[in-house]
Amino acid sequence: MTYLTCTSSILLVLAVVGAAGGAADQPNSGISRRTFGKMADGKLIDLYTLTNKQGMRVAITNYGGIVVSIVAPDRNGKPGDVVLGFDNLDAYLAKEPYFGALIGRYGNRIGNARFKLNGGEYKLPANDGPNSLHGGVQGFDKRVWTAREIRGEHPALELTYLSKDGEEGYPGNLSAKVVYSLTDDNALKIDYTATTDKDTVLNLTNHSYFNLAGEGNGNILKHQIMINAGSFTPIDGTLIPTGELRKVDGTPFDFRQPVSIGARIDADDEQIKYGKGYDHNFVLNRSGASLSLAARVTDPESGRVLEVLTTQPGLQFYTGNFLDGSIHGKGGKPYGRRSAFCLETQHFPDSPNKPSFPSTVLKPGQTYRESTVYRFSVSK
Ligand code: BGC
Repeated sequence: MTYLTCTSSILLVLAVVGAAGGAADQPNSGISRRTFGKMADGKLIDLYTLTNKQGMRVAITNYGGIVVSIVAPDRNGKPGDVVLGFDNLDAYLAKEPYFGALIGRYGNRIGNARFKLNGGEYKLPANDGPNSLHGGVQGFDKRVWTAREIRGEHPALELTYLSKDGEEGYPGNLSAKVVYSLTDDNALKIDYTATTDKDTVLNLTNHSYFNLAGEGNGNILKHQIMINAGSFTPIDGTLIPTGELRKVDGTPFDFRQPVSIGARIDADDEQIKYGKGYDHNFVLNRSGASLSLAARVTDPESGRVLEVLTTQPGLQFYTGNFLDGSIHGKGGKPYGRRSAFCLETQHFPDSPNKPSFPSTVLKPGQTYRESTVYRFSVSK
């Protein structure tokens, strides 16, 4: 009896120390899970939280593979959530602009909602004027993924989804796998792989909306951004690339040196007008096929820095121009115009209709492989 009491007290002490973050004040790194909500058919959806040894936390749900929160320290070590989103699943089930979601099968737009492949024409749902945006009406962002917790060197979450032949108009049974891992240098790594049993097109990305000052904390116009791109793909009035690769020299699209997002966002420029700000694909300067630096964003106030590295050829820089304050996010905060920016690593929009762009065709026997890293740090 005495022995039992003693053991339980020790266990209790251990549990309390663990919950408080560990004796040496080092957070318990790992992965935890809780129920996030319920789908209309009663299916339970989970929220997984990855924590690293620095105490950085990333929460992801298996509904749409959505990154729900990213909590990273500012220059004084104060943690803050730097992505837009909601507190519960129901808000994600209502109409919302892809906050944090996995996008597939095709990130960004396909012109006139159709493309030709091997002589056949594939018709897609037009959900953005005449075009098909982010995989159609029921894209990967609205699918329930199968989750598997990985407890290796770093906490990670594997999500898999089988997209059936013909889903949203795309050919081939496509098996997609996305692994989110959180490393101890405060980097969220996203590894995408996929295979198909018929020729198809594919362009996967993540649609996180960042505000390095903290979500709901004003606009992002004073953030400084560097984009490692010498050209971009100009768009028409429906945001479809014209096919041209235009040099950024002398345009509001030259971010090769850091400049504030707001400096030229309302410039008297046709491209800026089409996008209502920035909503453009940049052609990244790459060195080889491995991860290379695509962009760096700094918030002078909080000191938070976000670096984006990717294996992809393109980067969609979108400045939340369509947010208008009507969506209330975490804690009921309204998300106003330009209250976040997206850096969506990708192949170029409308590539299936632009033979001169890098190909997005995936064939049986091939494995689609892309990786992107969102790495957080602070500046003085
Ligand atoms: C697109 C924007 C769109 C936003 C939300 C971005 O990837 O480029 O035009 O409004 O996603 O759907």
